[in-house]
Amino acid sequence: MSLNGKRILLVIAGGIAAYKSLDLIRRLRERGAAVRAILTRAGAAFVTPLAVGALAGEKAYTDLFSLTDESAMGHIRLSRESDLIVIAPATADLLAKMAAGLADDLASTVLLAANTPILAAPGMNVEMWEHAATRRNVERLAADGIAFVGPAAGDLACGEVGQGRMAEVADIVAAAERLLADAAGGGLRLDGRHALVTAGPTREPLDPVRFLSNYSSGKQGFAIAGALAARGARTTLIAGPTALPNPPGVTIVAVETAADMLAACEAALPADVAVFAAAVADWRVARRNEVKIKKAGETPTLALIENPDILATIARRSDCRPTLVVGFAAETGAAPEQGRDKLVRKGCDWIVANDVSGGAVFGAERNRVHIVTPAGTESWPELTKREVAERLAVRIATHFAGPHAAE
Ligand code: C5P
Repeated sequence: MSLNGKRILLVIAGGIAAYKSLDLIRRLRERGAAVRAILTRAGAAFVTPLAVGALAGEKAYTDLFSLTDESAMGHIRLSRESDLIVIAPATADLLAKMAAGLADDLASTVLLAANTPILAAPGMNVEMWEHAATRRNVERLAADGIAFVGPAAGDLACGEVGQGRMAEVADIVAAAERLLADAAGGGLRLDGRHALVTAGPTREPLDPVRFLSNYSSGKQGFAIAGALAARGARTTLIAGPTALPNPPGVTIVAVETAADMLAACEAALPADVAVFAAAVADWRVARRNEVKIKKAGETPTLALIENPDILATIARRSDCRPTLVVGFAAETGAAPEQGRDKLVRKGCDWIVANDVSGGAVFGAERNRVHIVTPAGTESWPELTKREVAERLAVRIATHFAGPHAAE
């Protein structure tokens, strides 16, 4: 992903991490962003307006009351002419001013007048970060919709150790990209749409006490159902056995076997979008024993038969096919290529391919996915499963708002 054509207003407050903000300007510009910078009075004591202006390619703004600046570039225009405001470092003082709604210099005035997303990268001493006042301010600002990246824990410039280090430049850039992507589709809703989601494992009984299953936790599918419902979709979640709470606003249908899951999906149609995140058992035993298989005697041999492919069955329906059918593909290596193959084989519209070669994904909190569509492949950075769900919901909402909406 890039920041091509995005206008970023960088506010540099007075902390030692301000030196990293010089590099941040370069990295943001490298990704295609136009950067304009404001230094607070204390910020200008750490890095010079000359250095900041030279790296940004445009003079740095420092003083609210410079009459020439106000006529050429007023503080309102400064905030309006940006797609995102990044505060790095965000000091305890500036956060306190923002939380209180104060506007006594250029930076705080621009921040109060802003109608664009704001990303704050706090950087300060550990005691300041942990102080009850800062905790209160950060909580207040998060509730006001300010996004935060960091701070990280580690050695601090003051010689102490703890949380307070400003996030690394690469992490700030990644957070800026995420925020802009969300902002692009952020307002889109799915009201009036019906979303069908499958999640979790299936259980294929051998006898009344034993079953075949897999390690799927259901976390990704549950998060997707929650994110779609949060955007207003009437959401039906068909879930195999999991230990997860029901996501708010979602109608949950609990199933055990793949056959039950298919029947429940068919019963839930019609749907506008169907996301198949379940790890469906590929096989079931050919003949389920009505009584518990006894240990005595010969070791039993399990004869297996293939389960129906729920995704392919729904994607290939001639009637009632959801407008958008999304499958998942857990692959080891070459995930995008294998995902494309699966897209064609199963007849779905998008595949969310996740790379499971690096280690555990089942049950984990994070996921690294590629979105494979007929138009191309988009690789997302490693995100939490909740973030993947949120982004996927944005993509789905964007799809229904776009030119394919009537397809
Ligand atoms: O072929 P594979 O199991 O890798 O395909 C994964 C995708 O197909 C997932 O979206 C999964 O939910 C779906 N699937 C299904 N029914 C099956 C097997 C997989 O819906 N029997």
